[in-house]
Amino acid sequence: MTQKAVNPVFMPGDAPEDCTLCPRLTAFRAENRKKYPAFYNGPVPSFGDADPELLIVGLAPGMKGANQTARPFTGDYAGDLLYATLAKFGYTSGTYQTMGNDGLTLKNVLITNAVRCVPPQNKTIAEEENNCRPFLINQINNSGRLKIILALGLVAHKSVLTTFGLKKSAFKFAHNALHPLGNVIGDKNITLIDSYHCSRYNTNTRRLTVDMFEDVFRKIQNFLK
Ligand code: URA
Repeated sequence: MTQKAVNPVFMPGDAPEDCTLCPRLTAFRAENRKKYPAFYNGPVPSFGDADPELLIVGLAPGMKGANQTARPFTGDYAGDLLYATLAKFGYTSGTYQTMGNDGLTLKNVLITNAVRCVPPQNKTIAEEENNCRPFLINQINNSGRLKIILALGLVAHKSVLTTFGLKKSAFKFAHNALHPLGNVIGDKNITLIDSYHCSRYNTNTRRLTVDMFEDVFRKIQNFLK
């Protein structure tokens, strides 16, 4: 049997390694296991501080990035900017490396994805976003100190709103916008902040620049003071 590149590290409430909730993603995973036997090829667990004030929600693993390394954004183009920015703002200990075998730890931040399995053509569908939401709910319920959620892109923004049972029309996605969500899950008073996704497409087209991304983290840092 081929040795996998990296062993996934699961947290309580993560999707199980053999999750079959999404037929399309399960079939795609089976194809990818044949094509790339050394990759992780499974639902990527969350990564970071188990009891954070900041939760970052991405879209879904990239084929040769998180789907290979079993760590969100690790080995993905988007991870270069995300982990560099986390380091700049003091949220990391250690040095990020693209294969994930770097001993990196995150302080006060946890990273997860709206959909935990790599989707064909990098595009999730609504059914998969819904199937995967219980794992996001678990994550939020398990994070007693949580204050702010950073949604990277529209899919993450919508998934967070649905998690809290909130209307999308009441909270329009806008880069660097803060949305106080109110006291909507138990005693949690959570604020949502949006950013354009730090994808290759968005950075190449300059929809998202490094300065714009850092502005979001400056706002988060002020918020958490
Ligand atoms: N990799 C991830 O884990 N999530 C994203 O949203 C993009 C790349």
